[in-house]
Amino acid sequence: MLTEVTATRYVTPLREGGSLPGIVEADDLGTYVMKFTGAGQGRKTLVAEVVCGQLGRRLGLRVPDLVTIQLDPVIGLSEPDQEVQELLKASGGLNLGMDFLPGSLGFDPLAYEVDAAEAGKVVWFDALTNNVDRSWRNPNMLVWHGDLWLIDHGATMIWHHNWPGAAASAAKPYDASDHALARFGPDVAAAAAELAPQVTEDLLTEIAAEVPDEWLVDEPGFDSADALRRSYVEALLPRAATIHERVTVGAPTRSGPSRAPGWLTDHPTPWPHSTRTSTKDTAQ
Ligand SMILES: Nc1ncnc2c1ncn2[C@@H]1O[C@H](COP(=O)(O)OP(=O)(O)O)[C@@H](O)[C@H]1O
Ligand SMILES: [Mg+2]
Repeated sequence: MLTEVTATRYVTPLREGGSLPGIVEADDLGTYVMKFTGAGQGRKTLVAEVVCGQLGRRLGLRVPDLVTIQLDPVIGLSEPDQEVQELLKASGGLNLGMDFLPGSLGFDPLAYEVDAAEAGKVVWFDALTNNVDRSWRNPNMLVWHGDLWLIDHGATMIWHHNWPGAAASAAKPYDASDHALARFGPDVAAAAAELAPQVTEDLLTEIAAEVPDEWLVDEPGFDSADALRRSYVEALLPRAATIHERVTVGAPTRSGPSRAPGWLTDHPTPWPHSTRTSTKDTAQ
């Protein structure tokens, strides 16, 4: 099970993305990015964070630790922003927390290079989970202590929004042409060879068991939280075996990211400029 903590202080909202997560402190002295159960995106976003976040971690990808957070909305009483007040009020009870990575930077493909093997693992993982939220416009990756970390798995597994059509939806291909790591020539085949055999029924069942009952009960068409957990396993298991055959990556746009703009690097004479031949510079 995920560790459960209790929020002790609401620190500040994070406004980069759409869901208005907040930074909170908790009674274990940890600092977390909290995703609210009362957010407009709904509790399925939190289910997706748990299933995909834990799956990524079990496959050896870097995803910050996840916890569940008990929230008493009273801790936000001094929060001046009306929108945040509403969110806190609607989210009493169990919410999701992701360990806050202090000092991390948003991933920038021009400033940080990813090798083809690591890029392949991330693209394969995103293909498996049908992540539509890791584009170059909105990478949802952080660089922390020199390493790449994956965050924000709320917009994955589109099939859980329409369970009767889930099998057909999960059989669909994955278009990664817009993926933030597409330019690094991701080796998806190598990633599939290494990771797909690890995605077993047992592993998926263990991961689905980590989703709190509160976020699963009363789903139309299911008579128990466990029946719904089973559907997550059944959608991901066959997809893991074959999705690498249905990933479109496209050719990398260049062999590697440009490190600096052309006006800085395209000197007419080699850098550093030779002073030996420059009479103008050496005259004084
Ligand atoms: N674990 C984390 N550590 C540090 N910053 C984070 C972390 N998780 C999210 N953030 C920051 O908060 C922003 C919003 O979080 P995200 O999970 O992408 O939510 P959403 O896009 O749904 O609003 C991110 O773009 C990032 O800047
Ligand atoms: Mg985001």
